[in-house]
Amino acid sequence: MSQRVEIGVDVSRAVSQILSGQLVAIPTETVYGLAADALNPLAVARIFEAKQRPKFDPLIVHIASQETLALIAKNVPLIIQKLIDQFWPGPLTVVLPKHECVPDLVTSGLSSVAIRMPDHPLALQLIQQSEKPLAAPSANLFGRTSPTTALHVAEQLEEHVAYILDGGPCKVGIESTIIGLCNDVPTLLRPGGITIEQIESLLGKGAISSSYSENQSTDSPLAPGQLKEHYAPLTPLIIAKKPHRPDGCRRVGLLTLQKAELDQQRPELFFEVIEELSSTGNLTEAASNFFAAIRRLDAEGLDLIIATPFPAYGLGFALNDRLSRAAR
Ligand code: TXA
Ligand code: MG
Repeated sequence: MSQRVEIGVDVSRAVSQILSGQLVAIPTETVYGLAADALNPLAVARIFEAKQRPKFDPLIVHIASQETLALIAKNVPLIIQKLIDQFWPGPLTVVLPKHECVPDLVTSGLSSVAIRMPDHPLALQLIQQSEKPLAAPSANLFGRTSPTTALHVAEQLEEHVAYILDGGPCKVGIESTIIGLCNDVPTLLRPGGITIEQIESLLGKGAISSSYSENQSTDSPLAPGQLKEHYAPLTPLIIAKKPHRPDGCRRVGLLTLQKAELDQQRPELFFEVIEELSSTGNLTEAASNFFAAIRRLDAEGLDLIIATPFPAYGLGFALNDRLSRAAR
């Protein structure tokens, strides 16, 4: 029988659970995380069990100060420090050479560690008061849609988590951008909440290596865990520029940025449910609604979800990445 997990805003309760090696779901500005003391291998192992996550997929360590950064990363190159100064706290993760104190389980045996400072007061308070860096993947079952509310976490993981800290709906709504260094050049490992345009306006155009590709698979493990199938609803999802109802599908849902763009095609005639992410076509608003809209469509018992692609700039780039991995 499933037990009901408590959801609330009691940071001191969350602190004692973290200190006793348990899992606490935490709000961040991107998506909810499933957090454990990053320096306690037994606690970190619980994350992999709860998510049914393969051990080759390393975790991001969440910190609340740059002093902690110096304890878990061996050195911070100047160009990465520049990014940190501009974008922390915020949706940017940097991959750096790891200090020995970081357990191998956190990094899947890599000599590097992914680190970020989340921009959410409850997450920062929990890290400060527990005086622990927190390892935290997105708080969903492996491969499934990421959670952007406390209830989303409870739906998939309530039996595994001691407490859910409720910080309201996530403002950004998609995961952090991950930047690593390849041959000393900053390299995009995962597009996310900080756009390439924002990074280029700080470091200069072309300063970021574009080895990232939407079709990156397990065969090119620059960022292990960036599998082709990810973020997926249980309902099949396909991407189509001109949405249509395929033969044989009775109940089809539509996920689209802006309905007005499709009005001439009269989508309401063909689709059982339509999720419009932003009536003004605003990509920031669309990102904050994205995963919740996929979850709502998934709960409708549809035969198929059709999604229209996003414009390929700004947050649209990261949203297209999530769509292409959710599709099958
Ligand atoms: O916004 C986010 O980043 C959220 C919130 C909770 O902070 N977290 C998140 O974690 O998206 P997760 O586990 O879903 O994604 C972590 C990914 C891994 O799959 C891998 O691609 C990359 O981070 N990663 C972690 N450590 C790495 C390393 N040492 N080298 C390269 N990539 C790494
Ligand atoms: Mg994830």
